[in-house]
Amino acid sequence: MVRKAVIAGNWKMHMTCAETREFAAAFRPLIADLPAGREVVLAPPFTAIPTLCRHLAGTGVAIAAQNVHWDDQGAYTGMISAPMLVEHGVSHAIVGHSEPRKYYSETDEQINLRARTAQRHGLIPILCVGESLDQREAGETERVIHRQIEQGLEDVDPVRLIVAYEPIWAIGTGKTCAADEANRVCGLIRGWVGNPEVTVQYGGSVNTATIDELMAQSDIDGVLVGGASLKAESFARIANYQVPARV
Ligand code: PGA
Repeated sequence: MVRKAVIAGNWKMHMTCAETREFAAAFRPLIADLPAGREVVLAPPFTAIPTLCRHLAGTGVAIAAQNVHWDDQGAYTGMISAPMLVEHGVSHAIVGHSEPRKYYSETDEQINLRARTAQRHGLIPILCVGESLDQREAGETERVIHRQIEQGLEDVDPVRLIVAYEPIWAIGTGKTCAADEANRVCGLIRGWVGNPEVTVQYGGSVNTATIDELMAQSDIDGVLVGGASLKAESFARIANYQVPARV
């Protein structure tokens, strides 16, 4: 069985529309000859979504939102709903990233609602899960991630879904999780999701030096990239990762 590889970039709170146009112009030629069987997804800030859609049209790059609200409309100042995203051609939505979990106290219940709403509108949720350094050192990695999967995916279709394993201690720190350990956890996640064909990504300080080893692992089907997705050259190198053909 060959699972689709999904290389996703999360720009977080970076990139104006002018910077987005510059990125797209540089990025287009660099991904013109991607090998078959890989998909590239980019999650710009909400304000840059129309610009990125327009400037990457025809490349096959999918556009993701960095979050999505669970209601279709309402008195939620500052939030964005699924229909608003779908109208712009967005196809994926990151949910449960460790930053909103930490800074805005998002709960597994809220994350579950976001994932369900995303699917109801035809968006593919990219559910992020991962343990903190304290939890890892206390031997709680499996328990924490199992809970995040179980609660985050209640009543979520395990087919139209991507899960990203993002150990919090590896995000933005320059410390990539060792490839064999990331592979082990991604394999556990696939088992807990209960769909052997679900795409499971690794995220956390992925860069041009680590991508090939990560993508050579049997249970890592892609990556979710923060910092290294901000430059067209580095993100293109990541999308053009080199591994022996997977069979
Ligand atoms: P990073 O971010 O690649 O900058 O560590 C990853 C993420 O937050 O998804």
